[in-house]
Amino acid sequence: MDHFNYRHQRLYAEDVALETIANTVGTPCYVYSRATLERHWRVVDDAFGDYPHRICYSVKANSNLAVLRTLAKLGSGFDIVSGGELERVLRAGGDPQQTVFSGVGKTESEIRFALESGVSCINIESKGELDRIGRCAAELGITARIAVRVNPDVDPVTHPYIATGLQETKFGVPIAGAVELYQRASQHPQIEISGVACHIGSQLTDVGPYTEAVDRVLALVDQLQDAGILLQHVDLGGGLGIRYRDEQPPSPAAYVEALLARFKQRDTHIPISIEPGRVIVGNAGILLTRVEYLKHGKPKNFAIVDAAMNDLLRPALYQAWQEIVAVEIEPDAPTRTYDVVGPVCETADSLGSNRELAIRAGALLAIRSAGAYGAVMSSNYNTRPRAPEVLVNGARYSVVRRRETIDDVLRNETLEGV
Ligand code: LLP
Repeated sequence: MDHFNYRHQRLYAEDVALETIANTVGTPCYVYSRATLERHWRVVDDAFGDYPHRICYSVKANSNLAVLRTLAKLGSGFDIVSGGELERVLRAGGDPQQTVFSGVGKTESEIRFALESGVSCINIESKGELDRIGRCAAELGITARIAVRVNPDVDPVTHPYIATGLQETKFGVPIAGAVELYQRASQHPQIEISGVACHIGSQLTDVGPYTEAVDRVLALVDQLQDAGILLQHVDLGGGLGIRYRDEQPPSPAAYVEALLARFKQRDTHIPISIEPGRVIVGNAGILLTRVEYLKHGKPKNFAIVDAAMNDLLRPALYQAWQEIVAVEIEPDAPTRTYDVVGPVCETADSLGSNRELAIRAGALLAIRSAGAYGAVMSSNYNTRPRAPEVLVNGARYSVVRRRETIDDVLRNETLEGV
């Protein structure tokens, strides 16, 4: 459930008409609903009941400081994949001790930054990384808490670009070789083994792959116990899907229940961490855009809007379908089937094809489910300044990232020495 609803034929974000935001902030523009964010986080958190757990919101899905601050206030932990994301968590007032650091290619300076900031766990993905962390920890005189991110070789049944738990992907350590890596870690005086991690993919719409992965991970936990290595937590990553169109992902409650069923069978209740991104923020945001031109013809009608693939890359990159609706319902406007496209000079610059819309030039459109992997994946392609982000809270709203100017875009370029 989200807080983007029609009132008197006009689409609102909570108690603010999107038209008001378009008129004051301009378009294109991302709009987030704080109540929706909070609601989604709480639904996931509540699903665990009193089972020991930690929700580490995956910063990569939407890393705006205001979003992070909102979730930090609820007590959320964070999942980061770069030094930049760690900096964001710190600036937003997030707790590094509730933060886990994932990623296949952590640089030495990122590792040092994480250790000095006191992150709760570094999820390591290779022997080389383990050795590098051991060395950095020794040099800094800090104990590094780690988990091994294992690759359980489970098919998540999702788009191939966002499947991570299969053996042929770059992610994690093959689960069969994990014990050896733990033994190596256990010999390092400056390394403390904290847990095990896995993340099999994103936009999963079935619990089956999760339970399969959990079974494999728990078998490893037992194997480690037999080898004298006791884990303090199991991190199951993120990946729970949302409804963009007609997908029927399990509810957060059903997903958590399926996970917990496996854990509750055990003698000790080992704490669980999860790293949800999309399920928290995806449907908490829309991209607001204005129709510049309508171009009618055969075989296609085009609605040319002021947002483009540089603002929202998902349709072009993953052939993703996101709902596009008119912000104002105009019963008198003629309904036609449109391809909604941006001004970027690529045929891939389409935000949605074959959409029935009753609109005129100048109309506002909302591209729904754009809160996750929207603004964070935007770029300056075609020298387009990045869109602003607005956070709505009840009847109020604030610009939480202002629109870039051309000067912002050109700031780091120089003609010196040319
Ligand atoms: N943890 C790890 C280690 C991850 O790699 C990811 C996402 C997550 C958690 C959060 O997954 P989520 O709950 O959001 O599915 N740009 C793509 C999605 C890329 C996901 C990458 N990893 C998209 O727009 O669909």
